[in-house]
Amino acid sequence: MQKHDDFNFVIFGATGDLTKRKLIPALYNLYKNKSLGENFIVTCIARKDFDNENYLEELKKFYKKNFKNLDEKIWNNLASHIYYFRSEFNDESRLYVLSNFLSNMEKKHGLKENRIYYFATMPENYQNLINFIRQYKLNNQKEGWKRIVIEKPFGSSLNTAKNLNKILKKAFDEKQIFRIDHYLGKETIENILVFRFTNTIFEPVWNRNYIDHIQITVAEDIDIQNRGSYYDKAGAVRDMMQNHLLQILNMVTMDCPGVFDAENMRREKTRLLEKIKVEDFAFGQYEGYRTEEKVNQNSNTETFAALKLFINNSRWKGVPFYIRTGKKLKKQMALVYIKFRDLRCIANQRLNMSSNELIIQIQPEHHIYIHFNIKKPGLTMEVGRVNMDFCYECIYGNTAESYEKLIVDMMEGNLTQFTSWEETKNAWKIVDPVIKKLQAVNNLEVYKSGSWGPATAEILINKYKRSWYYY
Ligand SMILES: NC(=O)c1ccc[n+]([C@@H]2O[C@H](COP(=O)([O-])OP(=O)(O)OC[C@H]3O[C@@H](n4cnc5c(N)ncnc54)[C@H](OP(=O)(O)O)[C@@H]3O)[C@@H](O)[C@H]2O)c1
Repeated sequence: MQKHDDFNFVIFGATGDLTKRKLIPALYNLYKNKSLGENFIVTCIARKDFDNENYLEELKKFYKKNFKNLDEKIWNNLASHIYYFRSEFNDESRLYVLSNFLSNMEKKHGLKENRIYYFATMPENYQNLINFIRQYKLNNQKEGWKRIVIEKPFGSSLNTAKNLNKILKKAFDEKQIFRIDHYLGKETIENILVFRFTNTIFEPVWNRNYIDHIQITVAEDIDIQNRGSYYDKAGAVRDMMQNHLLQILNMVTMDCPGVFDAENMRREKTRLLEKIKVEDFAFGQYEGYRTEEKVNQNSNTETFAALKLFINNSRWKGVPFYIRTGKKLKKQMALVYIKFRDLRCIANQRLNMSSNELIIQIQPEHHIYIHFNIKKPGLTMEVGRVNMDFCYECIYGNTAESYEKLIVDMMEGNLTQFTSWEETKNAWKIVDPVIKKLQAVNNLEVYKSGSWGPATAEILINKYKRSWYYY
């Protein structure tokens, strides 16, 4: 039986990269596996001069070329739920027409006015769109619920985030606002909580008494992919650290929420973020960045950032955390690396032993590895290092894409995997001073494409007698 109400998925920014590569494919998969049912429509809004037919044709052409297993019958059925509406986001008269279009289409399909407004467009459009929603009372919940989805980045500093939130709160209350960070929809990230809090063998050692340090790496081998005008204003700290890396850190370090629901999770995550103190940092820019399209030729924007930080609470006091992210690095890789302390009672230096390591690999594949010592079979006492490997795909096959899971949460009104205002605010409080420090750096260190980033990032960790984990 359908668990969710009927709905209208209203996408602002329907010709963009996110819609084409992530949102529509996620809707297609959900439709295919019958998670959407039939009582829904998708209203696609952008300024390109398409009519409904051309728009759907364009999408179909793209999917036929890029997705091997497109089932045309399923696509055609899904397409009968999709409507394109052309409008500039600041064209009042056209937006007025849109407000009627939405309810007419809902009536045509016999739907209530339950709507998910998804902002899949640049942040500079948000204010206009929220004003439009208020002006035509499209936030009114008399004829059906209204939810709004805001993509990252939510603001570009603490102040701009506060302003955006203020504008949003005039039209929606916190329970209607879905601040999306798609990393939170990844199976491996969600699993961190289950892994930590349901396994007796891990939770008791997940603290300063047993853990030496923790690393988080989100490395990309790609460049900025024609997103120069956005990226040059953002940089790695705003684009990745403020959201994805701090969210992963939170899942790895937060206290047990008791219940995996929005209220409890948000409370613990907010509490954790309040205790973070950044101690050291390293930044870099990849060679050739300044010649990328729509990038300032004197740009001092960082394409790589690494931070050393501490969490000042009883669980983590004194444990260093090293987090790093960058573009044009050696390979695509996202992982959490946990190095346990060396508490062995056998102090024989001739035995080649090292303390345990636990690696949660998020990309390119989903794995959890545990490295531990064993005695090598044989007549002498020799220690070997072995690896226990849990591979998600090997057991469960392909897991759902994060956008699929998060869209289901939006349909069901489940905010657990979305970021609250308090979390967002605290994340900016951590990142704002880092950005200030960064602005004081005159010439960023340039690193070679295909390397692991600037030498200062190695120094950042090596000077504390530790080193980055690579696999
Ligand atoms: N792309 C991703 O994988 C990704 C991942 C995570 C988060 N995000 C976030 O998602 C948002 C969208 O990213 P994107 O990569 O999809 O951007 P994009 O490719 O530049 O698409 C922007 C969309 O907004 C529309 N648009 C822009 N200004 C408009 C205006 N004044 N009036 C009407 N339509 C307008 C564009 O329509 P026209 O084409 O008709 O101009 C296009 O449909 C950004 O906030 C980004 O940070 C993206």
